[in-house]
Amino acid sequence: MVKKKRKTPYVPGIAAMKFKPNHDWTMMEAKALFLDMNSNRNIPLDTIKYEDCIIGMRSLSERSVDLVVADPPFGIDFSDKESLYNRNSNLILDGYEEVSRIKYSDFTSLWIHELPRIMKNTASAYIFSGWTNLKEILEAIGQSGLFIINHIIWKYQFGVFTKRKFVTSHYHILFCVKNPKKYFFNKIEHYPEDVWIIPRRYRPGQSKNNTRLPDEVVSRCIHFSSRPGDVVFDPFLGNGTTAVCAIANFRHYFGFEINKNMKEIIEKSLSETDLGRDYIPYTELLPSLEELAEKYPAVKKRL
Ligand SMILES: C[S@@+](CC[C@H](N)C(=O)[O-])C[C@H]1O[C@@H](n2cnc3c(N)ncnc32)[C@H](O)[C@@H]1O
Repeated sequence: MVKKKRKTPYVPGIAAMKFKPNHDWTMMEAKALFLDMNSNRNIPLDTIKYEDCIIGMRSLSERSVDLVVADPPFGIDFSDKESLYNRNSNLILDGYEEVSRIKYSDFTSLWIHELPRIMKNTASAYIFSGWTNLKEILEAIGQSGLFIINHIIWKYQFGVFTKRKFVTSHYHILFCVKNPKKYFFNKIEHYPEDVWIIPRRYRPGQSKNNTRLPDEVVSRCIHFSSRPGDVVFDPFLGNGTTAVCAIANFRHYFGFEINKNMKEIIEKSLSETDLGRDYIPYTELLPSLEELAEKYPAVKKRL
């Protein structure tokens, strides 16, 4: 086979310099899309149901969500009162619902099985898993009919100290879609890698259930896989991180949380979140020429 010759030679940094996101919206455009009630949405907007998601999902309309962010319970012998990372266990709320080891695979296939029906054809799902449950999660995804596009590693710092093994300091995020030919993906960075290095954030003195994801991790899923005004669904809301990140970025949310004790915390976080608080048009987030020049000699020459 004859190899096609590149018309212009590849110069590192030049492609990054020319890169533009596939889609971008100004603040005003993003807000208008959020407020547009004419668009076709067949799910109650910005609503949380404090009930079991497996039962709750069955009553949702088909093709009603644009994006799923799902961080299920671990299903290991994890105590909700465990004091991790020197946190004060009095500030950790009762009622984190766990699933016993034996039932974990059944539980996992039940909730993942509900996803394809409620996802639009263009929708994606980001499913979080620790390494201990990865096998069950992968099996359930395989049986559900969803397609895995990427297996993302979220690398954080401060895993629990160990004496006779390596410290776990990563999480798995399975980026899945309903239709590999139709899914929405907004490439907002020139070179988005499948390892995300994002520190966990601690908010000393605040009540929470101690599994809270950093906003940066959830927002990254939202930015790459939804448009302003879209509906982001979370079956396991926990502290409400997905709902907060959705509103902060001009997206709508819908979700479940079985632990009613979380209601007060979620409502407080939402009441403190202004619409569009974290939204910045994607073009404004790209590295400047000076930043690129520091990395690539070819860009330096063009300055
Ligand atoms: C890992 S935590 C989610 C944490 C969340 N991502 C955050 O940032 O706060 C899992 C949550 O799922 C809830 N949960 C467990 N089983 C559930 C079920 N069947 N339906 C809905 N929520 C459930 C737990 O109470 C817990 O709050």
